[in-house]
Amino acid sequence: MKAKPGRVLIGRRELDRRVDELARRITEDYRDRDLVVVGILKGAFVFLADLVRRVDLPLEVDFVAVSSYGKDTESSGVVRIIKDLDLDIRGRDVLLVEDIVDTGLTLQYIARILRQREPASLEICALLNKPEARKVDIEVKYCGFDIPPLFVVGYGLDYAEHYRHLPYVGVLEEA
Ligand code: IMP
Ligand code: MG
Repeated sequence: MKAKPGRVLIGRRELDRRVDELARRITEDYRDRDLVVVGILKGAFVFLADLVRRVDLPLEVDFVAVSSYGKDTESSGVVRIIKDLDLDIRGRDVLLVEDIVDTGLTLQYIARILRQREPASLEICALLNKPEARKVDIEVKYCGFDIPPLFVVGYGLDYAEHYRHLPYVGVLEEA
């Protein structure tokens, strides 16, 4: 483990405030709809847990897990579903929750597969977004923070499976 979390990019209070705002928007937008919140494992688990507890609506939660072949800190765009949804999403309003959108390849792949199941709607909610790293065009309707193209960890995000538990988002730095 050569790299370590260095400076704090987004602290707990800032995360807290922004998750609150996103949850309020989602609560307004999905009133009288049929909401299924789908988290992408593992990275989304902390964000999703904080988010859904503030959405003041009936909803169901499910998860997909994907594995991406590639290096530690780079997305290859080659993705495979290793844990599929338990729920049938046909005709339902799906909100896909992701930790971070980098190239966009992972979300593009998952969204394409889930759209084939004909949900009534499918939108994307991502805590973090790196616009400068984008390779494909995807619409992130609910976005927490735009960040520069740095590798970050904490609040669900990992480096080689470490640091997911940190309560803030920190920048990974070479030791
Ligand atoms: P994309 O396919 O390039 O958009 O990459 C998305 C996935 O790469 C995310 O779900 C993360 O798991 C991972 N990822 C991208 N950037 C970071 C980062 O800065 N820290 C931790 N994981 C990242
Ligand atoms: Mg990841």
